[in-house]
Amino acid sequence: MALLIKNGEIVTAEERYVADIWCEGETITRIEKDITPPSNAEVIDATGKYVFPGFIDPHTHIYLPFMGTYSKDDYATGTQAALIGGTTTIFDMCCPARSMEARSGFELWKAQAEGKAACDYSFHMGVTRFDPAAEAQLREIVAEGITSFKIFLAYKGAFGIDDSELFHTLRLASELGVVTAAHCENETLVSEMQAQLLKNGMTGTGAHHESRPPRVEASGVHHFTTFAELTGASVYIVHLSCKEALEEALRARRRGVNVRVETLIQYLLLDKSMAELPDFEGAKYVMSPPLRDKANQPILWDALRDGLINTVATDHAPFDFAGQKEMGREDFTKIPNGIPALEDRINLLYTYGVKTGRLDLSTFVKVASTNAAKIFNLYPRKGAIQPGSDADLVIYDPNYRGRISATNHVMNVDYSAFEGWEISGRPSVVTVRGEVAVRDGKFVGKPGRGQLLRRVTKR
Ligand code: URP
Ligand code: ZN
Ligand code: ZN
Repeated sequence: MALLIKNGEIVTAEERYVADIWCEGETITRIEKDITPPSNAEVIDATGKYVFPGFIDPHTHIYLPFMGTYSKDDYATGTQAALIGGTTTIFDMCCPARSMEARSGFELWKAQAEGKAACDYSFHMGVTRFDPAAEAQLREIVAEGITSFKIFLAYKGAFGIDDSELFHTLRLASELGVVTAAHCENETLVSEMQAQLLKNGMTGTGAHHESRPPRVEASGVHHFTTFAELTGASVYIVHLSCKEALEEALRARRRGVNVRVETLIQYLLLDKSMAELPDFEGAKYVMSPPLRDKANQPILWDALRDGLINTVATDHAPFDFAGQKEMGREDFTKIPNGIPALEDRINLLYTYGVKTGRLDLSTFVKVASTNAAKIFNLYPRKGAIQPGSDADLVIYDPNYRGRISATNHVMNVDYSAFEGWEISGRPSVVTVRGEVAVRDGKFVGKPGRGQLLRRVTKR
């Protein structure tokens, strides 16, 4: 069926204007004033609402075997939560164990998503080991449409690679025109500082951020961007949390390194005091890099506004408080790292970014959609409202008022790090490739309709 969205205020990375959007099949085909609805079209009245391109979360962990457990969502719950929150495309991190072949890891992640995902998706292909066999398989995986790698300069013994592997991964990425995303920390410093803190009896949740201070992250960024500089690779720093790390990234950019930066909604709004909450409540706020001193937040907001930080993601990594976070009651190093946010990213960014005047609407669209589409080879199929783009649209009601709560969220996790936070706005209708997937906060789409997106590099 055709779809007509009437009278909404279309907001893209470049423009704002009122017009109608006509979608045929999966695609936007016309954008004009006053399109007359034919009888065979579903018509959505968007008067008084914004129409945004479907939002893109460039960093999620729907399926993640990690720290002796598994993240709680699957591709059904995770993508339905994403859609309710206005996110129509996700990039999940494919993170094979070091002992696993890259090909087996890729097939495993694909099998998790197929038949379950309700929104479109791609993967960043985790390079957790680099040897001739991995190289051959990575070349095939890139040719199959996965045009980004992910590496970890942390999690010693799990996903982390050594410097020689890093060098060869970036050389391959540079040859293939693939962007490499990295978790930047110095893993030796982390493990030495963890051991020291535990030895001194510091076992509680507040020790987590003591073990990973800003310099640990800045050191990782410096290390990664140095390797990028010497290999000519294009790189992307995931979950940047603080001033010191940002300064290193910007220094590299000034030297000519092609480095893009992601921050998270968690770092913009939450701070390290939350990880210090008593009665082990702080465990809900344990993630890596850790939540930082509040003084970092205006620096991150300003960098977003000024285009120095390119994207806002969630790093969605849902672990229940009961039974999972609790694994670290006696030892903070055993708390599964991660904070869920996939369902709430857009409403929080709109409420605390746009409504407060920190971001204008076009910057909001850039950092939550268009920039990720451009960096990761999906633009203008995604991240745009143009004839020819996928009809992924978010009809957004700026007059909605509500509060976030784990009692009614769709993410399959037993707490919200944003419990009780007010939101001023939410998607009233969300479409994916021309079909309505969400109405008034309820998923009405089809599980399994989401597609693995085939991406091609610009070369
Ligand atoms: O604490 C985090 N960030 N957990 C998810 C894994 C990662 O490092 O991205
Ligand atoms: Zn990470
Ligand atoms: Zn992550």
